[in-house]
Amino acid sequence: MKKNIPPIGFGTFGSDKYKPEDVSKAAMTAIKAGYRLFDCARVYGNESEIGKVFKKAFDEGLVNRDDIFVISKLWNDKHGDGEVMESCKKSLEDLNLDYVDLYLVHWPFPNYHAPGCDANARNANSRPFFTDEFMKVWRQMEQLYDMGLAKQIGMSNMTIPKFEQVLPKCRIKPFAHEMEIHPAFQQQELFEYCIRHNMKVIGYCPIGSPNRPERDKTDEDVADTRMAEILEVANNHGIHPASVCLKWAAQRGVIPIPMSCNEKNIVSNLECLAQNPLSDDEMELIKNSDKNCRLVKGHVFLWEGASDWRALWDENGKISGWND
Ligand SMILES: NC(=O)c1ccc[n+]([C@@H]2O[C@H](COP(=O)([O-])OP(=O)(O)OC[C@H]3O[C@@H](n4cnc5c(N)ncnc54)[C@H](OP(=O)(O)O)[C@@H]3O)[C@@H](O)[C@H]2O)c1
Repeated sequence: MKKNIPPIGFGTFGSDKYKPEDVSKAAMTAIKAGYRLFDCARVYGNESEIGKVFKKAFDEGLVNRDDIFVISKLWNDKHGDGEVMESCKKSLEDLNLDYVDLYLVHWPFPNYHAPGCDANARNANSRPFFTDEFMKVWRQMEQLYDMGLAKQIGMSNMTIPKFEQVLPKCRIKPFAHEMEIHPAFQQQELFEYCIRHNMKVIGYCPIGSPNRPERDKTDEDVADTRMAEILEVANNHGIHPASVCLKWAAQRGVIPIPMSCNEKNIVSNLECLAQNPLSDDEMELIKNSDKNCRLVKGHVFLWEGASDWRALWDENGKISGWND
């Protein structure tokens, strides 16, 4: 029988701020606090450190393998023939696991950039999304599923036009879609689309990624934890604005994956879900506070000739880069 995905997970992207050892230490704190879902990825550069934590947790009897749901992701530089299997096996080796519960295609194109590069950095080989290229990757993902190396397979950073292209062609349908979701960026249409197509929605940057690197910030960005509506609800409940963001996500049906290296925050991010729910009026207030503020714009994935980062997200309802 397939495992259920837990309602909240622990993010493991340390970005520039946290070293692999900091993140793996936090992952152990998270296991002890009761997190059972871990969002890992090859590109986060810390799977081998997190793998040591999983092994220790199994050896010490803190959790069994069956108790935890582990996600990993295929990075953009491994979309070629045979590379998906190779990449998944490397993640399994590093994570000290025989299988991942969910393996995601991290981004729907093979555009690579060096970790930590500036938003203006461009890779001359970057390309728009092409259905046939993506399906070659997905066929390899389906093979991982058939072999039991990934119990479920899914996608991340997709758009409705891209889903419309690929979903009819998938033999194994995506189990989940991981996408940016926080009060200032709700993506209601895409969220509803995913639910309608039986995908679990995993929400990244659920608190609005307050400590992301300066190079990833723009003047227009809104800080979720400082939005008037979030502060009002936090005040009603006497809780931190971060807890409001997470409660809102979970009550909406999103699986948030907050990241923290601070024990107090790790614990409160999990515990807040069990405390007094937000009222219907509070949910409505937050629903109406959407600022359409995307934080992970993806500049570095742009291809030669693309207008700006909005092209990555097919904002005019068509796949950008096709006959434009
Ligand atoms: N699929 C994708 O393309 C993709 C893209 C981006 C992210 N992700 C995943 O999503 C996860 C979460 O995203 P994220 O880390 O960018 O953003 P986030 O979870 O919204 O924010 C994390 C930041 O919030 C702070 N924080 C956490 N809990 C807090 C609390 N209770 N009070 C105050 N501050 C708090 C943390 O600092 P402290 O350490 O000080 O608590 C941390 O710096 C990532 O780790 C990664 O696993 C996936």
